[in-house]
Amino acid sequence: MNTEEIREDYPILETGVIYLDNTASTLTPLQVTKAVTEYYHSYRANIHRGIYRISQKASEEYDQSRETVASLINARPQEIIFNRNTTEGINQVALALELQKGDKVLTTAIEHHSNLLPWLSQKTKGVKVEYITPDSEGRLNPQDFREKISEKTRLVAVTHISNVLGNINPVEEIGEICREKNILYLIDGAQAVPHIPVDVKKIKCDFYAFSGHKMLAPTGIGALYIKEDQLQKLEPPYKGGGVVSEVTLEDYTLTSYPTSWEAGTPNISGAIGFSEAVDYLRKIGYNRIQEHEKKLTKQLLKGLGEMGNIRVYGAHDARDRACIVTFRLEDMDSNDMAGILDAREQICVRSGSHCAMPLFKNILKEKEGIRASAYIYNTGEEIEKLLTVLRDYS
Ligand code: ALA
Repeated sequence: MNTEEIREDYPILETGVIYLDNTASTLTPLQVTKAVTEYYHSYRANIHRGIYRISQKASEEYDQSRETVASLINARPQEIIFNRNTTEGINQVALALELQKGDKVLTTAIEHHSNLLPWLSQKTKGVKVEYITPDSEGRLNPQDFREKISEKTRLVAVTHISNVLGNINPVEEIGEICREKNILYLIDGAQAVPHIPVDVKKIKCDFYAFSGHKMLAPTGIGALYIKEDQLQKLEPPYKGGGVVSEVTLEDYTLTSYPTSWEAGTPNISGAIGFSEAVDYLRKIGYNRIQEHEKKLTKQLLKGLGEMGNIRVYGAHDARDRACIVTFRLEDMDSNDMAGILDAREQICVRSGSHCAMPLFKNILKEKEGIRASAYIYNTGEEIEKLLTVLRDYS
């Protein structure tokens, strides 16, 4: 499949839109919407609740989707909880861990709010959040984690790929340190699973959260990996339909995981679409995805680097990052620039502080920026159109 063939799967591209906001959410191919529609048209029923055939079929497809998503990150199916998105996954872990007064969470100053607020919100309970600061290109040094971990540290929580800087973080090295020191380890994988191969066993993490909508699936479906030994210890935070084997007026007995973590009717069509998206990405292959993104990243970094009056954030080398590039034209408001890009060429980019205010304030010393992020269907011509408009204002 070449890029032109891939583009045929996205009817929205026929409108002429140049979609470079893939870090916020990706487009959805026909294959995925077809799988979702097929569920609604042919076997629309709830799962794990009916003995009639279409309910059985829905259950089978949902369970198969879990297997497909699990295998993508080298997890066992029972270690995958379907939820809404990465944010919900991290909150589920934060609730289940039941941190106590005096416990510490070690995270970084480059996190998305989703990997910050679930921890920061526990300060009223006496939980303390500590931070690792990156270098000037936003890089994290694993040794800083070794030095900062103390006997009070319960959890290390790190993003795999920054949603602002695009940097790929040394999660395996940090994982080694967490194992050595016997500290729980959570990764925000929202920007990683769509772009690079992920192996949760190699990373040695206990929790890994990611979203379907950032990797071609519908919105409202995500996955949380929980290592089996933690699943055996932790109580699922949500309770309700589907999570119990026995209920009396006095008490209840939870059923086994992962079902016990999915209270209420789940996003059945979303899970089916997620699985279809995984199959689609696998057909293309991570090698091709990375090769394509690196080419576009190089072109974008080179073009931006040649302009005056511009600050580009993150690693300067395209090899160390996904195609997520944030920059700031010095004399131009980022929202105004984003509006001009849309008005002139239908270019969609994100502007603002990208749900990472502490990173902007403390590390980049800026209030906001423009972010261009490419994916499998973007072309060199599209990047050139973006650069052409920017040149007029740099
Ligand atoms: N997390 C998404 C972003 O960075 C919404 O844009």
